[in-house]
Amino acid sequence: MTTPRRKVIIDCDTGVDDALALVLCLKNLEVVGITTVGGNVGLASTQRNTRYVTEVTGYTHVPVFAGYDRPMLEPLRDASYVHGAGGLGPIEVPEPKKPLESRHGVDYLIETYMAHDDITLITLGPLTNVAHALLREPRLAGRIPEILCMGGSATFGNATPAAEFNIYTDPEAAKIVFESGIPIRMVGLNLTREQRVTPALMAAAEAIDNDVARMVARLCGHVLDRSGGTGSFCDACAVMWLVEPAVITKSLKLHVTVETRGEFTRGMTVCDTRPYAGAAPGVDIDRQWQSEPSLPGKAPNVEVAMDLDQEKFNEVLLDTLRRYSET
Ligand code: BDR
Ligand code: CA
Repeated sequence: MTTPRRKVIIDCDTGVDDALALVLCLKNLEVVGITTVGGNVGLASTQRNTRYVTEVTGYTHVPVFAGYDRPMLEPLRDASYVHGAGGLGPIEVPEPKKPLESRHGVDYLIETYMAHDDITLITLGPLTNVAHALLREPRLAGRIPEILCMGGSATFGNATPAAEFNIYTDPEAAKIVFESGIPIRMVGLNLTREQRVTPALMAAAEAIDNDVARMVARLCGHVLDRSGGTGSFCDACAVMWLVEPAVITKSLKLHVTVETRGEFTRGMTVCDTRPYAGAAPGVDIDRQWQSEPSLPGKAPNVEVAMDLDQEKFNEVLLDTLRRYSET
């Protein structure tokens, strides 16, 4: 008997790495629906890119919804300087035949979770849609069993020295979600920087003869050109935790708060590592050393990914791409 595939809803701002995450999820999980948000680029592009990816992968039966186009309090400062003007690097996305659903993404989230409580929510962009849904229907906090979130960091940022893009883009939304009580697994930059897009990975994707692998090879090329070999597929790292849990080799349960007011730290995910931090915090975290529970601080609310097996990542990715050749 085969194990039933895990049901997920994905909320994303489809840029380069979201596209790869979608490729992994569509083939390996049961994707019930996808909601989109303004983030890497504007909503008009993120929803279109998402529909495009469902067409390239052949998963057009998965409904795609548009949610909010801007953060709760501020205008959107997008990341088109990273993902290209349209969001998918060099790929000029034609208008897909697959239509956008007419319902608002937040209505979809509320209706679906009020009817089902067994669907993991994956978030790959700013948390705007999820926060609006929670404000509008607070009972959702008891209906979403778990959020797997690409966002934040246990160390440094990218949008600012302290803050990661998804959280920095809408810190108020992130705070609402992180304080909701929903169990959260966080894959932040501290983890995703362990994955590298390499020429070898691109060549391996190029050697696979199907449209999905060709799209992924072009996305690899974009990341390589932009970053000179230091780029990562952040969102793909996050979804690996569900697709193949062995890719994430270490995690810690920590209390995480979102800074909304700091002059230099707005949007930072403040991870309380004190229970692990002795004389050499890095080493102590490595040893999973824990101090006495009498230390100050709140109980852990987030499981934070700490280490990734890059070889396994590549193996699972390439295996998934090969399986797109099967009919
Ligand atoms: C995250 O921000 C976006 O640019 C990526 O799609 C990813 O979700 C990385 O900071
Ligand atoms: Ca994203």
